Amino acid sequence: MDHYKEILQQLEEKHLLRSLRQTDDRPSSARSTHEHAQLFFSSNDYLGLANHPVLKSEAIAAIQRWGVGSGASRLVSGNTPLYQVLEEKLASLKETEAALVFSTGYMANIGTLGAIAHQGDLILGDRLNHASLIDGCRLSGATFRVYRHRDMVHLKKLLSNRKKEQKTLIVTDGIFSMDGDIAPLPDIMTLAEQYDATVYLDDAHATGVLGPHGSGTASHFKISNPRLIQMGTLSKALGGLGGFIAGSDVLIQYLVNKARPFIYTTALPPATLAASIAALDLIQKEPSLISQLWENRNDFHKKVTRMGFNTLDSESPIIPIFIGDSERALAFSRCLLENGIHVSAIRPPTVPKGTARLRVTLMATHTTAEIDLLLNQFEIIGKNMGII
Ligand SMILES: Cc1ncc(COP(=O)(O)O)c(C=O)c1O
Repeated sequence: MDHYKEILQQLEEKHLLRSLRQTDDRPSSARSTHEHAQLFFSSNDYLGLANHPVLKSEAIAAIQRWGVGSGASRLVSGNTPLYQVLEEKLASLKETEAALVFSTGYMANIGTLGAIAHQGDLILGDRLNHASLIDGCRLSGATFRVYRHRDMVHLKKLLSNRKKEQKTLIVTDGIFSMDGDIAPLPDIMTLAEQYDATVYLDDAHATGVLGPHGSGTASHFKISNPRLIQMGTLSKALGGLGGFIAGSDVLIQYLVNKARPFIYTTALPPATLAASIAALDLIQKEPSLISQLWENRNDFHKKVTRMGFNTLDSESPIIPIFIGDSERALAFSRCLLENGIHVSAIRPPTVPKGTARLRVTLMATHTTAEIDLLLNQFEIIGKNMGII
């Protein structure tokens, strides 16, 4: 334990110690349910669906019918009929032959990458890919190389340097989780065609957000290509929990047989599946949810950049406010909290060294007055700290 204690002390000295913040509030909603009003700009529940009455009532109905747990893995006896309904809706959203739900997005990434890439293969990943992609690439045993963020010249160079006939996978986030910019998918697909590679797209932050009815990055760019494997989560804009892969029938059948995090874990609770089904129906029926999210995002982005803050290349409801130094990012976040606003400071190793930032996420359920309050605090604190 002394060894671990020492490591923790070192992290604290570098302002990199992480700790859990306790809240008895609704962690996903835009605002607190307590009298001491608190606003949250740190949730990935982009559409506010985690607290939507329809999702809640569908989840409750599923508990009444099927109980709270699923009892076993999907291949044993946990495969309730809700899975089939959900997977058909996901395949339809992503315009693929089939889809497969995993218990989390993290498990979908490590399970799929581990099943489709092996020793001797080559994986090329964007430098800012999510940790679950990096873990999946490493666990696969394939040779793993990183290309500079969204740099197609670098990707092309790595592709042309590979061993002849080496099976190759290009892996990228759709919307990057800490920078909020979008992968240049059309260029990636062109390179994949040219070099006979497969593309694995993590659409955790784009599903329910980007493209027609929130169908994601591929349809945003009007791309439909058998070389593309699409991953998404049910845990962010769709308000619940779970991850999924959308692709061909053969791919899905292969994953059912080979993806260990799919095979060796208990199936999701019926309530979670029912809530996701309701979420997918809602984004089809109520397009105003997604358009309101983008209105809020564009309003905040325009005003905060006009104030002089650096929002990097954000193109989505994830808006980083670049600070650089971890201690200053933490101090900014603390000042906001003292004024009733929660925005997380993101520090290394989640982001590269020297690029600490505040990560603001807008939701469809934030009001204009709430966004103005956030902007007002940003201006005061930013000026006090000499950032703007
Ligand atoms: C880009 C990205 N991929 C995958 C995941 C993992 O998804 P989940 O939270 O459903 O496990 C996350 C978020 O946590 C993410 O941001």
